[in-house]
Amino acid sequence: MSLGFTPLLGTRSITPIYMQLYHYIRSQIENGAIAEGNRLPSIRQLAQHLSISKNTVESAYQQLLAEGYIQSRERNGYLVLPLDELSISMKSAAAEPLFENTEATSRQYAYDFQYGDVELNRFPLETWKRCLVETLSAADAQVLGYGNRLGHEGLRAEIANLVFQSRGVACHPDQIIISAGTQQAVSMLCQLLPLRGTAVGMEDPGYHGVRTVLINHGCKLTPIALEQDGIRLDSLRAADVKAVYVTPSHQFPLGMVLPIQKRIHLLQWAEENGTYIIEDDYDSEFRYYSQPIPSLKALDKQERVIYLGTFSKSFLPAARLSYMIIPPELMRSIHQWLQDYNQPVSPIIQQAVWLFMKNGEYARHVRKMRRLYQMKHKALTAAVSKHMGDKATIIGDGSGLHILLDVKGKSRSWLIERGEQSGCKVYSPLKHWLYPAQCPESLVMLGFGGLSVEEIETGIELLGKAWFSH
Ligand SMILES: Cc1ncc(COP(=O)(O)O)c(C=O)c1O
Repeated sequence: MSLGFTPLLGTRSITPIYMQLYHYIRSQIENGAIAEGNRLPSIRQLAQHLSISKNTVESAYQQLLAEGYIQSRERNGYLVLPLDELSISMKSAAAEPLFENTEATSRQYAYDFQYGDVELNRFPLETWKRCLVETLSAADAQVLGYGNRLGHEGLRAEIANLVFQSRGVACHPDQIIISAGTQQAVSMLCQLLPLRGTAVGMEDPGYHGVRTVLINHGCKLTPIALEQDGIRLDSLRAADVKAVYVTPSHQFPLGMVLPIQKRIHLLQWAEENGTYIIEDDYDSEFRYYSQPIPSLKALDKQERVIYLGTFSKSFLPAARLSYMIIPPELMRSIHQWLQDYNQPVSPIIQQAVWLFMKNGEYARHVRKMRRLYQMKHKALTAAVSKHMGDKATIIGDGSGLHILLDVKGKSRSWLIERGEQSGCKVYSPLKHWLYPAQCPESLVMLGFGGLSVEEIETGIELLGKAWFSH
């Protein structure tokens, strides 16, 4: 096969053109971009293509010939020769990964209790495809350009409607900013409030994904202790913070629900101190045994709460779609500042999700998933009780897509290792504690969204055997 190439040749360089051409071809052969057996362009062709003299090309080829990179064949031009050992080692070094890939390793387990996985087998893929196709078929400048800076207008209106109906939040669509996941939303908040260098409170334990962002944005992280029914208000009052991040409807990772009296006190405290509360309402669609609890934002008469919602659990993590609801006064003050930022979520995805919501598919999907996750949750708790009895205690059940298991008398690393040996992957919750020593040794974390009822039952049975049979 003959090939063409276009090196950048510098006429002002002190290196002669023929040497630049020689170095270019040699490096392409060594890194494998020009493979063994390929035919170089003829001297005439290449000279014409690069607008240089035939002598220059010939000199470069002569050098490659002399060093054994190419061979001249009668009536067949110049062929690239097999690489010698030196160049083979250079090539394989180039193919080495830059770091160890830790992302895919857990997929080798038959029963992977990975938190963050959602039900994929019952996902309405055909409908979602139709929304994408419709988006692309009707694509206009709105969809194929950068899109509205705050996010797709129709989608923001749908979200305003959704949070009003399901979370009791009354807001104008212009208070909503579409974001690319919770971390990106918090990152944005760190810039716009701004929070750099200021004290920010956070439940401890709390969501490590958000803690990482706060720390990396230079916030002075102030851990706030928890008690049986959620965040300790006395700890919060003792901390002089500019903002506090909380998960009141399903504390992450412990799972408790903040009672109404505490919510009211929390809001009063925020008003008295001029503090912003960042409410992460990440999985409230999935509450199985009680009425949905109105969000903190729904009680927020003084507009101290910045509400965060995500589509990662209720739709797909792959959409990378979330949103913030900003108090009107704050929104007015930052609106101009936002004009310097582009919208991070693809307008194509936003438009397709808008269509998905507009025709009722999203509401249908959430209802279907709630029933399904409830069955999974029931299967999980029943299997734990059947195969582990009183040797393991579930922490934080009743909602969401994960639980913690307290397996008294066993160590986390032993539990994880024994689980792996039996084909079951369970996880350490350690990273969610600011001070790892405070994380009880006997706790492991199990997500169940991505496994079927049967897989959950078999997985828990196997774990029971691995942990308790001798
Ligand atoms: C507490 C908490 N907030 C938010 C999220 C969702 O984050 P994202 O919107 O980036 O998918 C999760 C999911 O893992 C979570 O556990």
